[in-house]
Amino acid sequence: MKFFIDTANLEQICQAQALGILDGVTTNPSLMAKEGIKGKENIFKHYKAICDIVDGPVSAEVFATEFKGMTEEGEELYQIDPNKITIKLPCTQEGIKAVKYFSDKGYRTNCTLIFTVGQALLAAKAGATFCSPFVGRLDDIGEDGVSLIEEIVSTYRYYGFKTEVLAASIRHTNHILKCIQAGADVATCPLKSILGLIDHPLTTKGLEIFCKAAESMK
Ligand code: E4P
Repeated sequence: MKFFIDTANLEQICQAQALGILDGVTTNPSLMAKEGIKGKENIFKHYKAICDIVDGPVSAEVFATEFKGMTEEGEELYQIDPNKITIKLPCTQEGIKAVKYFSDKGYRTNCTLIFTVGQALLAAKAGATFCSPFVGRLDDIGEDGVSLIEEIVSTYRYYGFKTEVLAASIRHTNHILKCIQAGADVATCPLKSILGLIDHPLTTKGLEIFCKAAESMK
């Protein structure tokens, strides 16, 4: 199970990287805009800064929505750091074509905005490195996001697809635990949800007791 951080915030990426458990980063246009980045040059500089912090894949999403624009933009993004940049493309007709185009070139891709098994199957057939089902957004509309992860994992295993299931739109720590049980290959999470895996009141209490005992022996 790999852990990606779902943010474009450099401080949070550094904090997660310092824990020593970070396997990659995902961003999207909303997360980039939240950092106040403006203009192509600054956007590219920001991706480069993220790539310099982490050891694993960094998903950079195209802004274009048609095939030609997606391929041109994806190519430029990939060149920022060909060892890390993963071109993030939406699961649309144009996006699936672009996933196939880049996978044929041997580039890493992340097919995003996945809400059904059918979409996930087509992303895998097009050769996506990752498919990103959005758990939280399905829960938001009264559906069960974790069940979708289970269904995609079992479909990929049945047909032997190599595409990794990247559980996205994680809203809280329990989502991560459920996605682990569902067999997701990766969970991309806000820092707070990752840190929630560490915290436990009995750990805090137990450490206080041990610290007191250690103090008494000085
Ligand atoms: C990840 O790749 C997605 O961009 C992200 O997880 C979306 O999360 P949200 O539904 O909280 O915006």
